[in-house]
Amino acid sequence: MPRDFVEDELSRRSVFKSEQYLSIDYVPEALPHREAELRTLAQSFKTMISSPGRMSQKFLIEGPVGSGKTAVTKRFAEQMVQAAGRREIKLHKLHVNCRVNKSAYLVYLKMLKEFKPKFPRRGHSPEELLQMLIEVLDAEDRYLLVILDELDYFIKQKGSDILYNLTRLMDDRLNAPQRLSIIGVGRNLPLDESVFDPSTLSTLQKNALRFEKYSAEALYDILNERKKMAFEDGVVMNETMQLTCEIAAERGDARYAIELLWRAGKQSDSLDSNLVIPDYVRKAKADTHPELREEVFEVLPVHSQLLLLAAARQLKEKRSVYVTIGEVEDMYRSVCEEYDNEPRAHTQIWEWVQDLNAQSLIDTKRSSVGQRGQTTLIGLSEVPAEKLEEYLTKLLK
Ligand SMILES: Nc1ncnc2c1ncn2[C@@H]1O[C@H](COP(=O)(O)OP(=O)(O)O)[C@@H](O)[C@H]1O
Ligand SMILES: [Mg+2]
Repeated sequence: MPRDFVEDELSRRSVFKSEQYLSIDYVPEALPHREAELRTLAQSFKTMISSPGRMSQKFLIEGPVGSGKTAVTKRFAEQMVQAAGRREIKLHKLHVNCRVNKSAYLVYLKMLKEFKPKFPRRGHSPEELLQMLIEVLDAEDRYLLVILDELDYFIKQKGSDILYNLTRLMDDRLNAPQRLSIIGVGRNLPLDESVFDPSTLSTLQKNALRFEKYSAEALYDILNERKKMAFEDGVVMNETMQLTCEIAAERGDARYAIELLWRAGKQSDSLDSNLVIPDYVRKAKADTHPELREEVFEVLPVHSQLLLLAAARQLKEKRSVYVTIGEVEDMYRSVCEEYDNEPRAHTQIWEWVQDLNAQSLIDTKRSSVGQRGQTTLIGLSEVPAEKLEEYLTKLLK
């Protein structure tokens, strides 16, 4: 009988019971080691439910990658909506990723679309969108809790007007119900007078929360919950868990810990082993670069991806810390040819370089005078060029 590879694959045993619980988008019901933060949020926002419309709350959350900022704000917003629903208050939540919605216009549009799903994408100014948002909230007696995630990247690019305008929107209506509350989230958010007026600043300083890196012990508790949901009983050795947490504790990054364990499980399946041993985690560590986060690279426009690939290749070939923008452009043109894309002009490339720099995906600096005249130098701070090249080549396929 010829072999049936599909049946083979389907009947294969796996160490996973429900792999989806290890996806980074999954938000668990319980968030161990973030109870205090969740409580603080609840205390700050409870008036939205106990006396709706009385005040508009603004809050900032800062913390490193993988410290649970997105998970906590999503879970919290969900609980707020549930509690409001039980009291017949029409509270909506909206999680906006400011890396994807790159302008104030797009953010406001997303807010408005929550209530008017068919609203056209074009034809209005940002101010008009905000005005319409307020009108629809008033007309339908609704409230909105908006989470501006990855806000630091947005502020670096566009300044903090968005926070200012959103808070002013409510502050300016003294005798009308306050319908909009905001949580801003980012790795580092600027909190100074150059950005905010004194009264907003003093509110924000009181309402800012910093999420610290997770310790190895905290990571263990977080990972253990996931392990129970995602893996068959008894397949993950305790030593494997320990090692994963030790490795991830250096960064205090829960996302990295989860990814390592998931990859170790995959490794185990591919070797047809029914035990996830520590060595698979070591292998996973060698294969993963926590800086190469899919949700960051996947949302880049194709040409930014091509440009990054060009920079990585150029840096790899020259074996130097920095290369000039001219060298990257030359490489970019050959990369474009390889991928069948029409190369864009210098001014456009310059804009992408700025954008990639704002996202900390590349480093730029001016060359010192005398070095072939003054030019912009491009380097990579976070990832080895070779790893980046490998990763982008896969992504661009
Ligand atoms: N306290 C926690 N309990 C359970 N899972 C967590 C916890 N903190 C983070 N995670 C998980 O770790 C991953 C990364 O968390 P995330 O909220 O995306 O971090 P951040 O937004 O700070 O980069 C997500 O899959 C999230 O569900
Ligand atoms: Mg996040």
